Amino acid sequence: MSESKGFTLWFTGLSGAGKTTISEIVAEELTKRGSRLEILDGDIVRENLSKGLGFSKEDRDINIRRIAFVADLLSRNGVPVITAAISPYREIRQEARDLMGERFIEVYIEASVDACAERDVKGLYAKAFAGEIKEFTGVSDPYEAPENPEIALKTEDEEPEESAARLLAYLEERQLIPAAVAS
Ligand code: ADX
Repeated sequence: MSESKGFTLWFTGLSGAGKTTISEIVAEELTKRGSRLEILDGDIVRENLSKGLGFSKEDRDINIRRIAFVADLLSRNGVPVITAAISPYREIRQEARDLMGERFIEVYIEASVDACAERDVKGLYAKAFAGEIKEFTGVSDPYEAPENPEIALKTEDEEPEESAARLLAYLEERQLIPAAVAS
């Protein structure tokens, strides 16, 4: 197996935009290609590494800095990483970029609040609109969209499999992952 190159796919986007779904498809495909990958998913990180943190700007910033710290440790040792947290603030994403330099690849998982609210897989948007959840990203809390992401995946216009395929093609082009194996 060839030596894999470390990088961090920094997913950012609203809750329900498709971050987790796309990260899982990409992970599965990379595993098939014999490449290691670690996923740092916001929902899971908040159950352990960031347990007890809430959704104030201060707590979100701590959460994102922790995720960036771990992503840096892994990616600098050759392990590809996907981080899948909303990471709503531009400034903290920039911090993560500064930390990881060339290894940082910002992936905007793009979907409007309306589209995410319509999907409302976890039923959180309904609660947020009813005022039952305060500081909900995109409804009553800010989301600062990336201005210059390396790649944007518009999940309203394509299926998760297509988004994942476009991301994989981008990584192949940059020679960061091995090419697909013929099945
Ligand atoms: S982040 O802002 O710190 O990056 P993170 O991705 O870890 O957020 O967690 C977001 C997840 O927490 C959402 O997908 C949703 O399931 C849940 N959640 C609960 N309360 C909120 C809230 N107020 N704003 C956004 N997401 C929330």
